[in-house]
Amino acid sequence: MKIAIVTDQSRTKFLPKEEGLMEDKQKRKTVVDVKEVLSEKYTCIDLIFDDNIINKLRKEKVDLVFNLCNGIRGNSRLSQLPAILEYAGIPYTGSSPLGHALAYNKVYSCKLFRESNICTPEFIYVNSAEDARNIDIDFPVIVKPKDEGSSRGIHQNSLVFNKRDLVEKVKEELSFYDPPIMIAEYIEGREFTVGILGNHENLIVLPILEVDFSNLPKNLHKFYSFEVKFYYSDKTLYHVPAKLDKDIQKKIEDTAIKAYNALDMKDYARIDIRLKDGIPYVLEINSLPGLMKGYSDLTKMADACSLGYKGLIFGIVENAIRRYRLDRKQKFSIA
Ligand SMILES: Nc1ncnc2c1ncn2[C@@H]1O[C@H](COP(=O)(O)OP(=O)(O)OP(=O)(O)O)[C@@H](O)[C@H]1O
Ligand SMILES: [Mg+2]
Repeated sequence: MKIAIVTDQSRTKFLPKEEGLMEDKQKRKTVVDVKEVLSEKYTCIDLIFDDNIINKLRKEKVDLVFNLCNGIRGNSRLSQLPAILEYAGIPYTGSSPLGHALAYNKVYSCKLFRESNICTPEFIYVNSAEDARNIDIDFPVIVKPKDEGSSRGIHQNSLVFNKRDLVEKVKEELSFYDPPIMIAEYIEGREFTVGILGNHENLIVLPILEVDFSNLPKNLHKFYSFEVKFYYSDKTLYHVPAKLDKDIQKKIEDTAIKAYNALDMKDYARIDIRLKDGIPYVLEINSLPGLMKGYSDLTKMADACSLGYKGLIFGIVENAIRRYRLDRKQKFSIA
């Protein structure tokens, strides 16, 4: 079987700031990590998602795409490669265009969580600073882009305590990110992230990872802002498996599975959760979570159990293959 690992062109053309550069760097390193694993069992190449991607994949007679494309522009950027691959009839790992679109847009995913009786923070969204000036909400709130990842647009000053700072922050976010901007109830509590691998009856929950901010310098707010992720990673504590009472652990796992199924995730995803008064609140689902070896959360979870990094990467591929073999209606042919 021949697998192509496909990743994006540089993001910096559309996000010309440090956050775009960091994204590029992580993607390039992830391709190297994934390729090293997959080359053990499969013929493996890596390609960039550009205008010629279908031609390149057909010329190389690729059986399966290992999708690492977040896309570089547009509101549907995570869905773009999966949609093109569906059109071309080429199987790929991970969620469908629909799943990515729902998960990536936090306004829609949070609406669906509510609809499915999954606890999520109260939220509203605004299209302008003027809208923000006119809303009536309780503080503190967190201001964030509706469709980014790796805490792009979520900085220390995203946690706001009054109307004036809220309006300023919304203005700042709108200068870099597309509207609407999300304003969510700030959930004070322990933070967990939950990895899921598989589909339906083959679904497994990886050891839960707690992100512990108690060791951060006093002047920093205790949430996973861009600053904390990139400059204070040595002061952030990761506990995996997280220390949890059995019943709370079960509650978190069940909530994560419910959220995974509500958004129709495929093969793997990572669900971010905060716990308040014994209730798990789903913040978001990462439908294409990072897979950078030893760095990305999902890889830390895999390292904490029998899977390891290799088991995780092979697991994603094996789940995708099984899914295509079972789903005859799609008429994809997979070796
Ligand atoms: N409603 C909320 N209440 C409390 N903290 C929040 C809330 N929303 C976001 N946060 C904090 O901000 C962090 C980043 O938010 P979120 O997970 O939505 O962004 P992201 O950039 O998509 O993250 P990722 O790196 O997982 O892709 C969370 O891990 C959490 O610490
Ligand atoms: Mg997150």
